[in-house]
Amino acid sequence: MLPLLRDLAERAERDLDPRWHDYLDTGAGEEISLHEAEAAWQAYRLRPRVLRAAGEVGTAARILGTRVETPVAVAPTAYHRMFHEAGEVATAAGAAAAGALMIVSTRATMPLADIAAAAGPWWLQVYLTRERAAIENLVTAAAELGASAIVLTGDTPIVSTRSRGRGSVAAMPPEWHLTNLGRAVPEGVDPVWAVDADPAASLDDIQRLAELSGLPVLVKGVLRGDDALACLDAGAAGIVVSNHGGRQLDRAIATAVALPEVVTAVGGQAPVLVDGGIRSGMDALVALALGADAVLLGRPVVWGLAAAGAAGVQTVLDGVTSDLRESLALFGVASPGGLDADDVTGRR
Ligand code: FNR
Ligand code: LAC
Repeated sequence: MLPLLRDLAERAERDLDPRWHDYLDTGAGEEISLHEAEAAWQAYRLRPRVLRAAGEVGTAARILGTRVETPVAVAPTAYHRMFHEAGEVATAAGAAAAGALMIVSTRATMPLADIAAAAGPWWLQVYLTRERAAIENLVTAAAELGASAIVLTGDTPIVSTRSRGRGSVAAMPPEWHLTNLGRAVPEGVDPVWAVDADPAASLDDIQRLAELSGLPVLVKGVLRGDDALACLDAGAAGIVVSNHGGRQLDRAIATAVALPEVVTAVGGQAPVLVDGGIRSGMDALVALALGADAVLLGRPVVWGLAAAGAAGVQTVLDGVTSDLRESLALFGVASPGGLDADDVTGRR
């Protein structure tokens, strides 16, 4: 882990209300997947190149048409007012200052219009609600507010039993709950039932969200090549390899292990993003070499938010990007596009 992130993680643990810190830090079950995530990236070794006239390193890219200055992006994480009074508005401003993509959670605690006004490039994360009209209204609103893609989380048919922080969400002030989704529930429908995740959500829902929003839809939570192909066949425009930061199915394989299989199956048809345990530019380099188009940071962004609001978020994104730039230069390539799968090996 980058020392910068280590310091911020320690600060978050020291300074946050323990209820909010437990919610942030926890994994599911015995936290096996949570604890494996970082080590799985560190297990790869690099095969650098010499004398390639790589020149100055650049990290700007386009992901599904969204222009970013760095392939390091903000993963969707819920309830940012637990961590800073300006909530997701501060996160959005920090990401914009870093030229990074932000994926806004359905469970954001600030109004979507305020987040959109502060944001640079942003996408909306959704899950499928029992009352489809609720999520459909939110998706339509996001498209009008300038979101450039929808990320459908596929690994949360139910929210798992967490190891720590079980009472935290219930302890939040009511106005932090479903700030955006709540407003999207049609009149006369029981809001608690309406916004619950629908365990009957299926691949057919991908196309429906794409048609409704007019935006590309990525599926998040994919860990297998055959699943990635099934999502693309059903109309997905991209894949996010993720085990939800070890917070959903414990013992799900590490994303560093799943990524090569997914990249091979997708075969360049669509972008593949990845998250889980990425804690340095070196981890990002490994992911990009294995074929990811971008990496997402979950907890590290929140550590920055908790420490210093927008400036803290920018510090985290700039810090990891700068470490990525240095790693690319030392490796001998001018940009992530110069990396190849045979640049990394599982052998030591
Ligand atoms: C999450 N994650 C998540 N994912 C999602 O699709 N919607 C959400 O609302 C949330 N909320 C959420 C809250 C918190 C506190 C955490 C830590 C995570 C999962 C997130 O998008 C991402 O997959 C992981 O956080 C990535 O792992 P790291 O970087 O935290 O190790
Ligand atoms: C979580 C849910 C909100 O991981 O996605 O806490």
